[in-house]
Amino acid sequence: MNGLDPHGPDASHIAGLFWLMVAIGGAIYVVTMAILVVALFRRRPRLNDSASRNDRAFIIAGGVIVPTVVLAVIAFATVRVTNRVTAARDDPVHIDVVGYQCWWQVVYPGTTAVTANEIHIPVGRPVELGLESVDVIHSFWVPDLAGKVDLIPGRRNTLSLQADRAGTYRGQCAEFCGLQHTHMALLVIADPPDTFDDWLRAQAKPAGSSSPVFDQATCAGCHTIRGTHARGDIGPDLTHLASRSTLGSVTVPNTHENLARWITDAQSMKPGSNMPPVELSPADLDALVAYLESLD
Ligand code: CUA
Repeated sequence: MNGLDPHGPDASHIAGLFWLMVAIGGAIYVVTMAILVVALFRRRPRLNDSASRNDRAFIIAGGVIVPTVVLAVIAFATVRVTNRVTAARDDPVHIDVVGYQCWWQVVYPGTTAVTANEIHIPVGRPVELGLESVDVIHSFWVPDLAGKVDLIPGRRNTLSLQADRAGTYRGQCAEFCGLQHTHMALLVIADPPDTFDDWLRAQAKPAGSSSPVFDQATCAGCHTIRGTHARGDIGPDLTHLASRSTLGSVTVPNTHENLARWITDAQSMKPGSNMPPVELSPADLDALVAYLESLD
């Protein structure tokens, strides 16, 4: 994550504002230190009228005029960047992101696609995110692509972003939200438009099959697998779990071993998460993991 290596117009505007502030702040530091050095080595002049007039002019210039100009320039630049990053976009892709302790639900309005923690977007096209929370305040931050916006219960915020190059950009919840705040990461995956369309079509489809183990274990009480009887709405939608590259909100890679461990002992991987340990016979665990791995 590096906001100074922007991969989209919004992050570029913000990085530009950062460098402007660094340049102005750096120049003020250098000038102030130079004046300090001069003051240390200059002999104090005898007090007379002309000296005190010079002092007064120096104080007015250095204490009033220069700060006013500097702050006005920074305020103008800040308002301009704020207007740019919050401006309405032409033909954006709408995606809703809902914060949970401690993971992200991702909904594609107008389709049946629901996923978690990994947000696919098309390259080169503006995206408008609707940001909401079901529990506490979270904050959505993908520094390479855009600024940071809070997800506040009972309120809908929006954030526009755009990726100019295909790639995977990591994001992080940026507001302390519970024991697993640190592990509330996300990935924004910018795909070429055709790849994105194919991905979205695949995600909108229901699962190809159901699993008696999944339905009989406690899984279905919390998780949805579209096209089956599992319709829980507490944990992430698992309809296409196998298409995701990570588990536990980008805590571990989505591998066979991690998936089995996540089911039986998520607390050792993400202590304090809402995923309880699920007790299963070895045969049932194998069947469950095999089923979840088939959900691509
Ligand atoms: Cu969600 Cu920190």
